[in-house]
Amino acid sequence: MSDLQDAPAIWGTMRARQGRDTANANGFARMLEACLDLGVHWIDHADIYDDGEVEILHGEAAQALAPGARAQLRLITKCGVRFAAPRQPGVRLHHYRSDAAYLTRQAETSLQRLGVERIDLYLLHRPDYLMQAEETAKAMEALVESGKVARFGVSNFSTFQVDALTARTDLKLAANQVELSPFHTAPLDNGQLDQARATDMAFLAWSPLAGRRLPAGEDETARRLRHTLEAMGTRFDGDPGPDSLVLAWLRTLGAIPILGTGRIDRLQRQVREMRALTLDAQDWYEILEAARGARVP
Ligand SMILES: NC(=O)c1ccc[n+]([C@@H]2O[C@H](COP(=O)([O-])OP(=O)(O)OC[C@H]3O[C@@H](n4cnc5c(N)ncnc54)[C@H](OP(=O)(O)O)[C@@H]3O)[C@@H](O)[C@H]2O)c1
Repeated sequence: MSDLQDAPAIWGTMRARQGRDTANANGFARMLEACLDLGVHWIDHADIYDDGEVEILHGEAAQALAPGARAQLRLITKCGVRFAAPRQPGVRLHHYRSDAAYLTRQAETSLQRLGVERIDLYLLHRPDYLMQAEETAKAMEALVESGKVARFGVSNFSTFQVDALTARTDLKLAANQVELSPFHTAPLDNGQLDQARATDMAFLAWSPLAGRRLPAGEDETARRLRHTLEAMGTRFDGDPGPDSLVLAWLRTLGAIPILGTGRIDRLQRQVREMRALTLDAQDWYEILEAARGARVP
């Protein structure tokens, strides 16, 4: 899926209904247009975001787009997480599902809400400890054969969990979406990044700014990191913001950041600044060191 591997960034919709610019269909549509203008074609959803309301909002917003623009969008959505909510009748606690009937039903639901005929990338949202890998793999294959899903991937899967699933299917997983930011660097050392590189899976970074901790966190790590990034920004043309430097830090690693902002101007600035930045190895390690509060050995 070279198209995804080449994506500069992805727009993530988890907070869209709380976003300044994206809470209603008109604003959401303007955000989609702004994304396309920037070359950000991939939009990240999940069936659970606001209990399905975000997928519905996307479906409404996409109606306002010109057909040519709509056709350029590439949609990611996820399934497998369940919790007590109006659209999840009979659910009394958080749990995961990965059985064939559930997967197939959720794919149909997301297609209908999003108003598309195909999900471009469908992710198993979380590893289900009860997963019967063979059954799940067969359901994935059937969804691809039916044309309802173009590619499958996973999210929050360990390397072992990826191996357990891929051992049961010839389908190649297109992506692993994991929590990754200077505040959360476990994937650098737990094998997830290396596995993605070795198998050409796109490596998608969720909460790249640790969900406001970078811009607004008051803890010592956030303050130290901001201090380093603000000083670093002055060394580059245009004085890019700490957020853009962190996004460039992820890009340098080969990860694709999923931007969580609900502000069009912020997304535009972050993508433009990030794309203009080239971090060298020392810049990259300086950010890691500031986040960890320690040099690498
Ligand atoms: N697979 C998974 O398990 C999983 C889990 C979580 C998230 N995700 C995906 O990852 C996406 C991104 O996650 P995220 O929303 O946590 O990303 P994030 O980019 O780390 O955080 C976004 C939040 O930070 C704020 N923000 C961004 N830049 C800012 C700045 N310069 N100053 C002040 N505030 C700023 C945004 O507010 P404004 O709107 O005001 O800019 C928003 O509230 C989600 O939308 C979802 O698609 C996936």
